[in-house]
Amino acid sequence: MKKITIQKIQEFKYSQDTFATLTAYDFNTGQILDDAGIPLILVGDSASMTVYGYDTTVPISMSEMLLVVKSVCRGVSNALVVADMPFLSYQPSIEETIKNAGLLIKEGGAGAVKLEGGVHIQKNIKALVDSGIPVLGHIGLMPQSVNQTSGYKIQGKTDESADKIIEDARAVEKSGAFGVVLECIPEDLATKITNILSIPTIGIGSGTTCDGQIQVFHDVLGLTKNKAPKHAHIYDNLYSKILNIVKQYKTDIENN
Ligand code: KIV
Repeated sequence: MKKITIQKIQEFKYSQDTFATLTAYDFNTGQILDDAGIPLILVGDSASMTVYGYDTTVPISMSEMLLVVKSVCRGVSNALVVADMPFLSYQPSIEETIKNAGLLIKEGGAGAVKLEGGVHIQKNIKALVDSGIPVLGHIGLMPQSVNQTSGYKIQGKTDESADKIIEDARAVEKSGAFGVVLECIPEDLATKITNILSIPTIGIGSGTTCDGQIQVFHDVLGLTKNKAPKHAHIYDNLYSKILNIVKQYKTDIENN
């Protein structure tokens, strides 16, 4: 199979089928998703919770992010790997944005980066694209702003907030991003944005009409002890299955 490029991801915009994407945080998972033909793998800053055990995506550092990006990239041969830029690795300045995105690409091995925000970070997106770094946008619910928004609520429910999200979507596209994640917005708003933009939209908790969908790997597998968000597509409860295997192993060794 040929390496998936950002052009290939953009072609999904005009495909009949919705494309499926997932997060990954390690070598083994990268291999599994790649073997399954997932075209875009996000090393999300959700690693802050799934890998490092923090409560939110706010604390994860660049060095913690780099470790998981490197690990995933070693396992992936075909998919486009997108690395999330951690909170405050791009907000302070254009210089910081390019330096930190550069680390994720050059040292980490990612093919693109993702940043949260619309109008207020359009300069950062443009500077990255102008430097040759592909960018995936992320608007709607932006978990890095949880302390500002006081929780993980659906965004864009009023006309005024919906208009702001549309403005953000246009700004992300205009700045040169190759696609945009729409997190936790009403389906009719996601449909409207998907129709307005010429770049693919990737939804999470935003209905079924986006060009692609993304889920957190740990939610899909039921790998975490904590309750998954409402919008999670949960296929199994591997947490309890693994727990039972470990208990069985313990019993077998103790009784031998
Ligand atoms: O960090 C992450 O996993 C994400 C997805 C939920 C889109 O940003």
